[in-house]
Amino acid sequence: MNSILISSRIHDYSVYFVEDSDFLLNLGDIPHSIFIVDSEVLKSHKSGSLRKIEGKDIISLPIGEELKNLESVQRLYDKLMDSSAKRNITIITIGGGIAQDITGYVASTLYRGVNWIFVPTTLLAQADSCIGSKTSLNYKNYKNLMGTFYPPQKIYIYTAFLSTQDDINYFSGLGEVAKLHLMGGKEDTKAIQDALPAVIAKDEKKLLSVVQRSLLIKKSYMEGDEFDTGRRNMLNFGHCFGHAIESATDFAVPHGRAVIIGMMMANLIAVRKKLLSSDMEKYFAERILIPCLKVNFNGVQFDSEKIIDAMKKDKKRTGSGLALVMIQNDYEMIRVNDLSESEAAEAISEFVLKYGRTRL
Ligand SMILES: NC(=O)c1ccc[n+]([C@@H]2O[C@H](COP(=O)([O-])OP(=O)(O)OC[C@H]3O[C@@H](n4cnc5c(N)ncnc54)[C@H](O)[C@@H]3O)[C@@H](O)[C@H]2O)c1
Ligand SMILES: [Zn+2]
Repeated sequence: MNSILISSRIHDYSVYFVEDSDFLLNLGDIPHSIFIVDSEVLKSHKSGSLRKIEGKDIISLPIGEELKNLESVQRLYDKLMDSSAKRNITIITIGGGIAQDITGYVASTLYRGVNWIFVPTTLLAQADSCIGSKTSLNYKNYKNLMGTFYPPQKIYIYTAFLSTQDDINYFSGLGEVAKLHLMGGKEDTKAIQDALPAVIAKDEKKLLSVVQRSLLIKKSYMEGDEFDTGRRNMLNFGHCFGHAIESATDFAVPHGRAVIIGMMMANLIAVRKKLLSSDMEKYFAERILIPCLKVNFNGVQFDSEKIIDAMKKDKKRTGSGLALVMIQNDYEMIRVNDLSESEAAEAISEFVLKYGRTRL
């Protein structure tokens, strides 16, 4: 079986790439195991691949950003204790990034850490969030305020789950896939450009290789920097503007799409700073980033004051100016901490002028 080994200071773990659902039979045979399954995934796949775990201990987990909190964690502690969970339990999560965050938090805290296996079912969770060791919960209005570092023991990628993902979430995940391929360099960028039609059509085989490549690129940025201090910061490409766009539009623009726009804005700044040629900027926008958006922004207001205010609140900001990660002509990433508010405002106006009215 195709796999990637991820080394972690907590424990090393493997990501397995599987082509049929038989792996679920093996998971069901693990002693003292309990499945926690995203309720939507359970509904969509119970007469399909999830038939393989019929009759096993299954908890259905309701999903929503508003449910990614300590109350959901407590409800799971109760359910697990009701089924007499001991230190030797193995929690098997099947779901997207929210299921990962809630159950990862539970797995890392119950008895100070129990066995945990993760089967991601969204493009974002398969291609990006499943590795990285982070679990996060929202607290009141603060997104991802608390969490732990705790990787699963094993991860299984089965791209057939993606067939039922809705367009909004799927294309949001595609934003992270595009980001990782750009960060991989020239060949990966060309590869995702060529693969896009098949990825958009959710071709299972093509997805398997694109997801695998995304994880390998992410791994190369994480290695030696598990706790998020140096090189790993480059993974924030597109997120400096992206997070700000999400909050300034009251989350009308979903995360992955905000990341794509964020990369487009960062590229416009990189051109002004002579780090990126305008031909490269145009190539990234027209051949990769815009095709991953599949929406138009005619109705969305890009209020630069609100966006810049949100950028100032970025929790990863350390310098006195605004922080920005950019890609350069040679595909090397660079991070600056001294972007001025006027430079950011100019990039937002240029984006709106150039792309805001395009039928993206
Ligand atoms: N821990 C990390 O490192 C990390 C990294 C990035 C993002 N995240 C978090 O991940 C969350 C977003 O995760 P996501 O994009 O994976 O989606 P999600 O978990 O928010 O799920 C989106 C919707 O899709 C449903 N769903 C999931 N899989 C499905 C499938 N195969 N078929 C049909 N419906 C399905 C869910 O029930 C939900 O309604 C955010 O809360 C974000 O903060 C965590
Ligand atoms: Zn992201």
